[in-house]
Amino acid sequence: MQYRQFGSAGLTVSRLCLGTMTFGLQTDAQVSHQIMDRAAEAGVNFIDTADVYPLGATFDAVGRTEEIVGSWLNGKRDDYILATKACAVMGPHAWNGGTSRKHLLHAIEASLKRLNTDYVDLYQLHLDDPLTPLDETLEALDIIVRHGKARYIGVSNFLAYRLARMLGRADFLKLTRFVSVQPRYNLLFRQIERELLPLAGEEGLAVMPYNPLAGGLLTGKHAYDQAPSQGRFTASVGEAGEMYQKRYWHEREFQSIARLKNVITQAGKPMTTTSVAWVLANPLVTSVIIGASRPDQLDATLAATDEVLDAELKAQLDDITHEYRWGDAAR
Ligand SMILES: NC(=O)c1ccc[n+]([C@@H]2O[C@H](COP(=O)([O-])OP(=O)(O)OC[C@H]3O[C@@H](n4cnc5c(N)ncnc54)[C@H](OP(=O)(O)O)[C@@H]3O)[C@@H](O)[C@H]2O)c1
Repeated sequence: MQYRQFGSAGLTVSRLCLGTMTFGLQTDAQVSHQIMDRAAEAGVNFIDTADVYPLGATFDAVGRTEEIVGSWLNGKRDDYILATKACAVMGPHAWNGGTSRKHLLHAIEASLKRLNTDYVDLYQLHLDDPLTPLDETLEALDIIVRHGKARYIGVSNFLAYRLARMLGRADFLKLTRFVSVQPRYNLLFRQIERELLPLAGEEGLAVMPYNPLAGGLLTGKHAYDQAPSQGRFTASVGEAGEMYQKRYWHEREFQSIARLKNVITQAGKPMTTTSVAWVLANPLVTSVIIGASRPDQLDATLAATDEVLDAELKAQLDDITHEYRWGDAAR
């Protein structure tokens, strides 16, 4: 495993972070703990979760992932850098989501309880909440940090202009500043290269991309005309299956995957490992969040930090997927 400084924060993390959103729906507690053991054995010391996980959970099941992570961390909490998130809707009331002071101060307490800890290392806004004033959100996060409940704060799924405004407000108000961004980034989704990544570079923010395999598509295991019966692109993850289909299950994406597979195979490299290695190869990327629905899936993704992507292959992959720097942001 390799380790890197977390942007300009005084923190060092493994270059691969373990994502947990399969835990509690796609994988039971026992298999989830096996996945965590496997990642830890390989030197992963950075874990990403969220209050709303598992992916596809209904209100009665949200929070289950944090409980599974918390039970695994029992007795070894201080050996790991733990990140969680809030903002997604956790219940039926209007105030059960978003980034209001009311919700965030409630959400951190609920996460800490489920995670069985008295602090998280990184507390992230899962989404941008356009209804709450920026200053209210920043003040709530500042309280959370000053009360010792989170060491650092970050954002996920933010457009660059909104993050730039928040950084400016935090500096002006002398409130705790974000240290990281968690955007979607992979060979089939490269929009962040245009504005968010340059902003992160200029502001010294750590970048921890999610979805490096486009939900498994970049393993090359799916075919456009063969709908899978299980996994990320199906109803086994509730409504999220349809969301992932809308995101990626298109003829254009499958044509790109065929071209990628061709050059990667010709270079004698494995598709899954190379796809993750491509995300890691971006100098602005700090740590890539990998996910699994079975422990053995980690073999190919954990290998990515040892995979040296030579300049010629990287240029070919960049070229094939250049069009994904633009596109429908909503997808
Ligand atoms: N901030 C956000 O909004 C956000 C959004 C999404 C994810 N995340 C975080 O990022 C983490 C990773 O995201 P992701 O799960 O979308 O990453 P991903 O790498 O794009 O997809 C992982 C999925 O690909 C399949 N897979 C992985 N390795 C494989 C292998 N070797 N062979 C075959 N299939 C394989 C598995 O799905 P199947 O077995 O079901 O096919 C696995 O669950 C999440 O756990 C979460 O912590 C954050």
